[in-house]
Amino acid sequence: MPETNLLDTYPRIKRNVAERAQWKSRTPENRALAKQFGLEYFDGTREQGYGGYRYDGRWRPVAERMIAHYSLTPASRILDIGCAKGFLLHEFRALLPGAQVVGIDVSAYALEHVMEDIKPFVRHANATDLPFADRAFDLAISINVVHNLPDAPCRRAIREMQRVARHGYLQVDAFRTDEEREKLEQWQLTAELIYSTEQWQRLFAEEGYTGEYYWTITE
Ligand SMILES: C[S@@+](CC[C@H](N)C(=O)[O-])C[C@H]1O[C@@H](n2cnc3c(N)ncnc32)[C@H](O)[C@@H]1O
Repeated sequence: MPETNLLDTYPRIKRNVAERAQWKSRTPENRALAKQFGLEYFDGTREQGYGGYRYDGRWRPVAERMIAHYSLTPASRILDIGCAKGFLLHEFRALLPGAQVVGIDVSAYALEHVMEDIKPFVRHANATDLPFADRAFDLAISINVVHNLPDAPCRRAIREMQRVARHGYLQVDAFRTDEEREKLEQWQLTAELIYSTEQWQRLFAEEGYTGEYYWTITE
């Protein structure tokens, strides 16, 4: 099934009405700052990004779900595109000792603050130009990253993901209804693309993406 939610164990992202007051603070200035993917985005205020991107173990069940779904083993090679501080890769290494994990990110700040055990396995690179050979990985994962690119580079990043791995899991911001679209537009800080699930599916098909995917919906 191409449309598969492998983040169903992940706590629901709190983009709810209770936070509506904060939407007003998502000013062009805060958006510009967030798009630098620096300290403010990860560990600044909630108006500028995560409001503190800290390890809390929530990626463990996600990694377990992916291991089962893709039959990953300690011999598997796993790439996380937009790995940030390496939380998901940390779980793969804990669960599959010996597995080859690699992370890339454009954020120098995130890579400086990557989890200690993951430091040797991350590098600074752009999703649009992955510095890896064709089929270098068994699984490439990219969660909430490629909607931050304009359409042409986003398509390129998806082709790159398809090129470097046998399996792919891609998650993007998306909407299914006008209400969700409106909420996503108000909520988002860094997205270049506000696409419906159908638009994304069309784009994936146009770029020859055959991996799995799911949506981050603002409800
Ligand atoms: C919303 S965060 C998601 C982080 C992580 N994947 C997660 O789900 O917690 C987006 C991440 O993508 C990175 N990013 C944004 N544009 C990128 C690009 N063109 N290439 C690689 N990483 C990128 C950011 O630095 C940030 O770490």
